[in-house]
Amino acid sequence: MKNILSLLLALSLMSPALAQETLEEWMDKQESASWTKLLANLSPADTRQGAVIASPQRRDPDYFFHWVRDAALVMDVLMEEVRVTPAPLLTKHINQYVDFSHYIQDIHTLTGLGEPKYHVDGSSFTGPWGRPQNDSPALRALYLVRHVQDLIAKGATPASLARFYKAELPATSLIKRDLEYVSHHWWEPSFDLWEENKGQHFYTLMVSRQALVEGAVLARKFNDNAAADHYSWQAVLVEDRLKDFAKNGHFVTTLDRVEGIDYKYSNLDTCILLAFLHVGENGAFKLTDPRLAKTVQLLEMAFNRVYPLNQRGTVAVALGRYPEDTYYGGNPWILTTMAVAEYHYRLARLNGKMKHMNLGDAYTDRVRFHSRADGAMAEQWDRHTGYHISADELTWSHASFITAMRERRKAMKKLRL
Ligand code: NOJ
Ligand code: NOJ
Repeated sequence: MKNILSLLLALSLMSPALAQETLEEWMDKQESASWTKLLANLSPADTRQGAVIASPQRRDPDYFFHWVRDAALVMDVLMEEVRVTPAPLLTKHINQYVDFSHYIQDIHTLTGLGEPKYHVDGSSFTGPWGRPQNDSPALRALYLVRHVQDLIAKGATPASLARFYKAELPATSLIKRDLEYVSHHWWEPSFDLWEENKGQHFYTLMVSRQALVEGAVLARKFNDNAAADHYSWQAVLVEDRLKDFAKNGHFVTTLDRVEGIDYKYSNLDTCILLAFLHVGENGAFKLTDPRLAKTVQLLEMAFNRVYPLNQRGTVAVALGRYPEDTYYGGNPWILTTMAVAEYHYRLARLNGKMKHMNLGDAYTDRVRFHSRADGAMAEQWDRHTGYHISADELTWSHASFITAMRERRKAMKKLRL
């Protein structure tokens, strides 16, 4: 009896948060911490206004840079927020990001618009790196297209939006420049979103196709009809190429590799799921595609095997980028685990099934299990200990938490919970 009591006491001292807080209470707390921490990484001290730093950490690893991909994904979180509720502070950040993006499009880089990252003062990064990364301009264009559609819906005229889009070649406007790049380079090998492999990638092609499809619709609003035809036609060709990535009832991540790491034998990668989440409902494939379900299942089986921390904690598996990953020892990542939570919340909304709601919560609970009291989120969890490692306060980690919580609320509404 005494032993049991002291065990209970020890447990409650060890994890006060787990003992006292419901999952929902923790989610609310984490979500507001994530907003604060995400906003702190926009135009922080020592940066040019509008820079979105990947993380404030400046060494081991140095993430104090503006990555075009991370920035686009993060700014989409803000754009989605102001789509629903006006928020002057967020609008200010969006406008500064637009200015910064315009600025960096103009400077000379080693690979033109395929350049993956810039110094925080907006100058070109010329050190050795995996370049180009062609998902970057596609993501920037895609989310800016949606933002401009919002502005039009709120009454802005095409003439007042010329900095975003103008029917003019060579292109000078923000979106058209990126669309021209994507539509003329998508078939070339480029580095993947993890900056490790050069070839053709499911993720890069998915976001490229979406940028071209939605970009074509916008181009028509600006009377750029010949360009719209060109973007649409290229989107059809990308979609055709994407079909090659379906193999054995699931999707694979890279084809025709020409350079980079050579030990990714499984060809499985959580970025296949990220591709679906980042393009949204009108992508080349549906979120309910059984080949996606199979891909996620295969990834979970693999990660369950390779990460010792999955043998304890919660029922849901922590996921990393891909099973053979060795970056920082090869670990589960927060943003990939939150992606599976978001996947299930979205499925719950689409098919109204409680089962997916509960699954979503199980993954969120895994994130809570490794959480820190102040809501700080790094990039990865050590595969043995579960401690947060690699870049701290990764902006993208916080963004992935916020987007999953948003989808959870939508699913709750659908399920009348
Ligand atoms: C830095 C990249 O950002 C990361 O994704 C990669 O795994 C390492 N370099 C090793 O190539
Ligand atoms: C490494 C990741 O692999 C890459 O996707 C990301 O853009 C950078 N870190 C910055 O967060």
